[in-house]
Amino acid sequence: MLSPSPFDAIILGAGAAGLFCAAIAGQRGKRVLVIDHADAPGKKILISGGGRCNFTNIHTQADRYLSANPHFAKSALGRYSPQDFINLVDAHGIAWHEKTLGQLFCDGSAKQIVAMLLDECDKGGVTIALGHAIRAVEHADGRYRVSWGDRSVEAPALVIATGGPSIPKMGATGFAYDLARQFGLKVVEPRPALVPLTLGGDETLFRSLSGVATDVVARAGKALFREAALFTHKGLSGPAILQVSSYWRHGDPVAINFLPDAAPGWLTQAKRQQPRATLRSTLGAMLPDRLAATLSDRIGGDARLADTPDRVLGEAERRLSSWTFHPNGTEGYAKAEVTAGGISTDGLSSQTMEARKVPGLYAIGEAVDVTGWLGGYNFQWAWASGHATAAAI
Ligand code: FDA
Repeated sequence: MLSPSPFDAIILGAGAAGLFCAAIAGQRGKRVLVIDHADAPGKKILISGGGRCNFTNIHTQADRYLSANPHFAKSALGRYSPQDFINLVDAHGIAWHEKTLGQLFCDGSAKQIVAMLLDECDKGGVTIALGHAIRAVEHADGRYRVSWGDRSVEAPALVIATGGPSIPKMGATGFAYDLARQFGLKVVEPRPALVPLTLGGDETLFRSLSGVATDVVARAGKALFREAALFTHKGLSGPAILQVSSYWRHGDPVAINFLPDAAPGWLTQAKRQQPRATLRSTLGAMLPDRLAATLSDRIGGDARLADTPDRVLGEAERRLSSWTFHPNGTEGYAKAEVTAGGISTDGLSSQTMEARKVPGLYAIGEAVDVTGWLGGYNFQWAWASGHATAAAI
């Protein structure tokens, strides 16, 4: 049974942001209670990065985050950098490596990051209460009272760190938004992000390519990413697609350049060099076989290049460099790595994450309308926003 003695802060959510915030605040001498309905802390950390946790990205900067206010994340990110987190990881003797594009992963297991956070919480004397749903949160006389299970506790500071609703089967909820609304904060319409896109209608035939991956440049609106795309039995996935999915809105097309390294005029040049080749055989040398066959079938690529007018080859080249898909949806929160949107930054201080009109109320991590690219950016936001609040409570 927890002692009813007062805490300085109650943090709702024992995920990345909540645990990190608790550890730092605790080490600064604050008495901190973390409450989570899950039976174990940091569950999303454990499954992150394929079990190796891509815990930060060395290229972190605010323009790699989506938010209604693109400047909001600058302050917190600027005051707690990837190097700060690397120093902590190093101090715990956790070996790591850069996989690609500045993405840092544990050599061993994501369990090491959770163990590190719990160790840091221990050092700060943090109390963690797990396994009971929160029944009520009340606010009176400058104090927040949280009731969960058969207990109630109050404190002058309350931190919302319950994340977003992506992967509900892991206990993810939209609780943060309900609570924010309860306190008069606005919520930017949440939506699944870093999520596979689905294809239907005419484009269903691409599902037969399930399992085929290739390096592409994918574009949705002004956002473009060069990484792998993967065809799935429902549509499109892979890092390039997950990245653009965060920018994609229903009805938007997604354009894919299947040959990002091909120089303009490559097909007419191929015609001069190998006039007896077909588009299909030419593509077959540049792309996975099944993909080359499907794309050339759609363009009509069985004729010899020598027999195909340059104008037609030019048009084929244009299509291959900007193949337009019309996704009919996403695979939803069940498959979304994060939730875009969330508690509006309008009502929060970018210095401390405190609600401007509700003193003592803070929101951090994925619950807030700040969503990072794929590749360690979301954890860096969890650490940085947690750090900003820990210094203020
Ligand atoms: P987080 O979701 O971590 O924690 C929220 C906590 O609140 C949870 O413990 C939950 O149980 C609790 N909670 C929710 N509702 C509650 C309620 N009603 N009452 C009480 N408690 C409640 N990012 C990255 O940077 N690198 C990576 O490698 C990956 N990999 C990855 C893989 C997969 C499969 C997913 C789903 C996500 C990732 N991410 C990622 C994203 C990353 O996991 C995510 O952005 C952070 O965990 C967000 O941290 P938070 O602490 O804000 O929420």
